Amino acid sequence: MPLTMTHVSKVFKDGPHEFKALDDVSMDVKSGEFVAVIGPSGSGKSTFLSTAGALLSPTTGTIEMDGKNVGDLSNKEKTTLRLDKIGFVFQTANLIPYLNVTDQLRMIYVAAKNDQHTGNEAELLKHFGLGHRMKNFPSELSGGERQRVAIARALVHDPELILADEPTASLDSARGRDVVELLANEIHDRGKAGVMVTHDERVLDLCDRVLEMKDGQLMEAEAVH
Ligand SMILES: Nc1ncnc2c1ncn2[C@@H]1O[C@H](COP(=O)(O)OP(=O)(O)O)[C@@H](O)[C@H]1O
Ligand SMILES: [Mg+2]
Repeated sequence: MPLTMTHVSKVFKDGPHEFKALDDVSMDVKSGEFVAVIGPSGSGKSTFLSTAGALLSPTTGTIEMDGKNVGDLSNKEKTTLRLDKIGFVFQTANLIPYLNVTDQLRMIYVAAKNDQHTGNEAELLKHFGLGHRMKNFPSELSGGERQRVAIARALVHDPELILADEPTASLDSARGRDVVELLANEIHDRGKAGVMVTHDERVLDLCDRVLEMKDGQLMEAEAVH
């Protein structure tokens, strides 16, 4: 199983105040499965995704990724795990202004010091309809193109798990659907595991399973399809 979370809670402390952002969350996602997580703002979705991606440590509970207990890993090992196994997509593309599209993707290999550099940037960018944009800078791209670059960047190192936090938030509905279709195809055709947090109910038909976050608790969603 690429990701298994068992009884995960996350408490944020602010002086004397404690806030339970995740409350006993258990879930898993299989290879080839695309799971959506919906829920109101402030319900804990981003905290959930950051915890799933080993960016935040849970207060209690365990996270297993690729057969490893993430809690047993050092910070350095967690960084390596993220760079090797996880692709992240965020609300906005977060591209580096002074790197062209191809170099946005190469940067991941540099960060990972990955000597298995496959050099598949061009192929991936063409597959994502960006073949004519490979040498362009972010300021020369449309919002939809920028988000497609961000998704290509999340996939270039062939991760097992894709974590996407409201990837359509900055796009109109047609462009948003294109982006989620790209993610769904990648997950289904290449056997990756995907978890997407979204507000956009119109893309839920592209997902295999829909969960709902309410006050830090994750449950099966009711009647959304
Ligand atoms: N680093 C933090 N410190 C304190 N509280 C936080 C922190 N991150 C998130 N929270 C709180 O946890 C709750 C859930 O936040 P978040 O996971 O961002 O929700 P969502 O993504 O569903 O909008 C919110 O009440 C938020 O204020
Ligand atoms: Mg959020």
